[in-house]
Amino acid sequence: MQDQQAVIAEAVQRLRAGRLVAFPTETVYGLGADARNPAALAAVFAAKGRPPDHPLIVHLCVESDPAAWTTDLSPTAVRLIERFWPGPLTLILKRAADVPAAVAGGQDTVGLRCPDHALAQALLREFCRSSPTDWTRGIAAPSANRFGRISPTRAEHVHQELAGQDVYVIDGGPCPIGIESTILDLSRLDQRGGRPVLLRPGSISAEALAEALGELPGSADSAAPRVSGTLAAHYAPRSPLMLVERTTLEALDDAHSAVWSYSLAPRGPRWRRAPVDAVGYARALYDSLRVLDAMGAPSILIERPPAGPEWVAVHDRLGRAETGSGT
Ligand code: TXA
Ligand code: MG
Repeated sequence: MQDQQAVIAEAVQRLRAGRLVAFPTETVYGLGADARNPAALAAVFAAKGRPPDHPLIVHLCVESDPAAWTTDLSPTAVRLIERFWPGPLTLILKRAADVPAAVAGGQDTVGLRCPDHALAQALLREFCRSSPTDWTRGIAAPSANRFGRISPTRAEHVHQELAGQDVYVIDGGPCPIGIESTILDLSRLDQRGGRPVLLRPGSISAEALAEALGELPGSADSAAPRVSGTLAAHYAPRSPLMLVERTTLEALDDAHSAVWSYSLAPRGPRWRRAPVDAVGYARALYDSLRVLDAMGAPSILIERPPAGPEWVAVHDRLGRAETGSGT
């Protein structure tokens, strides 16, 4: 057992020294660095093998003032923050001039999120309170995986992904949501026809956002900022992954493939049963992809989950895992 206070103190000391700390959030584990320290940000990109033009999300604690990070905290942004923070919603806003360009991959915007996780909040709060107290601090953190690979939902996954790197890992057990935050771009509201744009679906659905916005968010177009989680190939296992229908699995005469099915009972040692509800499915998804991948099977067959609004984010991640797999 890690002693929580000692762990947070050690983590804060490292962050202040420009070093990296991986920490749990309600979605996935993040690879954190001082968001106002360009050298620490460079270390994040290096550890992940991530191209420098892919922006990072700045994580804030409940006490932080998001206005310290943006020039344009619109009434729409305030409404969404009041409704959904702390929680799995990242807002893209115009970047304030004193926020390092590196955190935004050189773009004029910044992604902000306030995680709904006790350990993440404790870390963020103590980071701000480390002397002198400064509530304008934040922790920039992408998911704590190598670029293009499966996001970590357990501390063990982070150790696997970043073995040999100078990263202090805070173990908070499995992440309760299991897939990354919903990303909503509010940076172009002041332009003609500008409206909120959904860049990445997550557990906060477009319909839930619409209740607060009064309209459904638009979908990403070519003028939208670049989001690596929206590259066609992402979240990818190494074995080739295929989404298949139940009938394909029923007819399957092959003991070699690794299989994840929510509707069929396992037949053989490489079959795993998937949860039937969207929340449980998302929570289990990345850990299961790792388990299936570790079987070293010639292929991973995943039964296509049901349609419906609560499954949108899961379909999004599975589609990208399928496209990026086998490399
Ligand atoms: O749930 C999450 O969001 C997790 C946890 C750790 O908070 N973080 C996460 O980070 O998924 P990452 O870097 O793997 O994905 C964040 C996405 C990236 O695809 C990045 O391009 C996008 O957010 N993003 C961040 N800042 C942005 C900005 N200013 N404009 C457009 N996209 C941005
Ligand atoms: Mg990621």
